[in-house]
Amino acid sequence: MSMLDKVMAKARADVKSIVLPEGDEERTVEAASILNREGLARPILIGSKDKIEATAAKVGADIEGIETIDPAASPKKDEYAALLYELRKNKGVTEEKAASMVQDPMYYGIMMVKTGDADGLVSGAIHTTGDMLRPALQIIKTKPEMKIVSSSFLMDCPNKDLGEDGLLVYADCVVMPNPTAEELAYIAVAAADTAKKLCGFEEPRVAMLSFSSKGSAKHELVDKVQQAVAIAHEIAPGLLLDGEMQYDCAIVPEIGKSKAPGSPVAGRANVLVFPDLQAGNISYKITQRVGGADCFAVLQGLNKPCNDLSRGCSVQDIVNTVAMTAVQAQE
Ligand code: ACO
Repeated sequence: MSMLDKVMAKARADVKSIVLPEGDEERTVEAASILNREGLARPILIGSKDKIEATAAKVGADIEGIETIDPAASPKKDEYAALLYELRKNKGVTEEKAASMVQDPMYYGIMMVKTGDADGLVSGAIHTTGDMLRPALQIIKTKPEMKIVSSSFLMDCPNKDLGEDGLLVYADCVVMPNPTAEELAYIAVAAADTAKKLCGFEEPRVAMLSFSSKGSAKHELVDKVQQAVAIAHEIAPGLLLDGEMQYDCAIVPEIGKSKAPGSPVAGRANVLVFPDLQAGNISYKITQRVGGADCFAVLQGLNKPCNDLSRGCSVQDIVNTVAMTAVQAQE
């Protein structure tokens, strides 16, 4: 069974409500119809009922039985505005500003998740990553045991000898432009958690990547990764994690043996942690475009699951992301 099939089966076993703030967007409406029909989630579409129904008619989607919410007409809007004001008043949000913010579907959706009126959120078919992330970071915040929010890309590679039957977890490819050593350590621990809980890896083996393997090069950029390895060992002593190492050292058994002899991870890593966002983001796109991998992104470290879509996403991408969000919500 593929990773995605396993995710779909888990999502069906304990159905969660996932709010879609871009509720009148064509791909989103089609995805909601599929999710509802296939029992993968209870989608909630945010937007004007008339507009959502017009979109559904245009794309031929059956939205019978799917909840739609228009923030402007919602009986919950005052409650959400009052809570939003409490949460953000020390950041300069006034009562009037909070009342207008909850009319924004993105903030309305985030408040649904915050209050438990929805189990998770998926957005980003229209919004940029930054515009999707900011409300989640400001209001949902990080899990108590996590210092930061980051992301993992699940890379399903054609070469099934890699990672876990071809599946590799890459982090961070979306959120933290230039993490400190401590932040990098938290990214690694969060990625291992994603590998275990979402991908079903029994033994996450985490490689902390660099252009150096075990001191082969000296540079302040290498020092940062070495510090991150030490901090990650303190935060998660039982985790199989090693570095710094080069990408080939992490995934090719013979090179792992020669460049990092005795390492419990080198040559057989299934979780790959990049030193910064430039490296992570470029690498996932190379793996996808040149390596032919299918890729799926999730945010990790948020107190409740919210996930971002690419603006070029397909209907199936939305279905997949909602199913993964629903599985994250089961924790
Ligand atoms: N974890 C937890 N909280 C965070 C994080 C984080 N990683 N980053 C910011 N925050 C919090 C801040 O503490 C702040 O909280 P506060 O308002 O309560 O004090 C709040 O989020 C907003 O922080 P800002 O610094 O004002 O937000 P910023 O404008 O820097 O945006 C963002 C943060 C959106 C994550 C930014 O770092 C960013 O743009 N990252 C890159 C996104 C991107 O473009 N990725 C690549 C493309 S995606 C792709 O290819 C799939």
